[in-house]
Amino acid sequence: MRIVQMSDVHVGSGLFRRDLLEATIEETNAMKPDLVAVAGDLTMEGYRWEFEEAKGYLDQIECPKVVYAMGNHDAKSVGYRHFEEFFGMREGTVMVPFGDGEAKVVVLDSTKPDLDEGEVGREHYAWLDSEFRDWDRGPKILIIHHHILAVPGTGRDVNNLRDAGDVMAILREVKVDMVLSGHRHVPYVWSISGVRIVHSGTVSSMRVRGTMPPSYNVIEFAPENIRITLHQPGKGEAGKEPLASFSRKPVTTSEFYPDFGRYVLYDKLPFLKVQR
Ligand SMILES: [Fe+2]
Ligand SMILES: [Fe+2]
Repeated sequence: MRIVQMSDVHVGSGLFRRDLLEATIEETNAMKPDLVAVAGDLTMEGYRWEFEEAKGYLDQIECPKVVYAMGNHDAKSVGYRHFEEFFGMREGTVMVPFGDGEAKVVVLDSTKPDLDEGEVGREHYAWLDSEFRDWDRGPKILIIHHHILAVPGTGRDVNNLRDAGDVMAILREVKVDMVLSGHRHVPYVWSISGVRIVHSGTVSSMRVRGTMPPSYNVIEFAPENIRITLHQPGKGEAGKEPLASFSRKPVTTSEFYPDFGRYVLYDKLPFLKVQR
């Protein structure tokens, strides 16, 4: 299974680069991926015209499965309404063929209107758990815009997922294989508690940090191993750089004993709890 992960398109920014996005889409189509994950920040201000323009580009992607997550910039100016009109539901699950089985890919909206930081929220936890816990037909992949873990090379760490600890505990509990995120505009991979967390840079803007150029990630998911390569749009072979590789099954000798329920509470609307 081949995944192209891109994020932080930022149509509407003065630093948006149409040529980079067009090169990325052309290169993506040539690779014939099984899944394209666009991990949020399609726009700059969440304006309708920005979504419309973004869709004009992204509709050129030729792939049977293309999923879009909301970014904090898309939630500005009540942009989530336009997002839904142009890109469909903000959350959901798609299946991607993987060997004899299927990968389960869950897209989650971590945005709050007009805030840069994100939150999954306790009301989402039971859904997240139920989607992943008993899935045994292939990889479990979560797509969420905000970063769960701090990304190095980004300066002061801000705007992360406000409930990152709870979410990380759930991901470990239900054995999620991989999380695809954007938001910090710096590509970086963490492997922690058996969960691989893959951040992509900004694909088509010069809103870059430090030495990291605009880029997207290509993830090769083989039965035994996973390889992640960074690609700079339009740079060909010279713009490719290995980012991470690891075995398909995480090797970990760590055990953590306290009961999961002591840490994480699954709220159900309207929050009435049965007392134990
Ligand atoms: Fe961004
Ligand atoms: Fe963002």
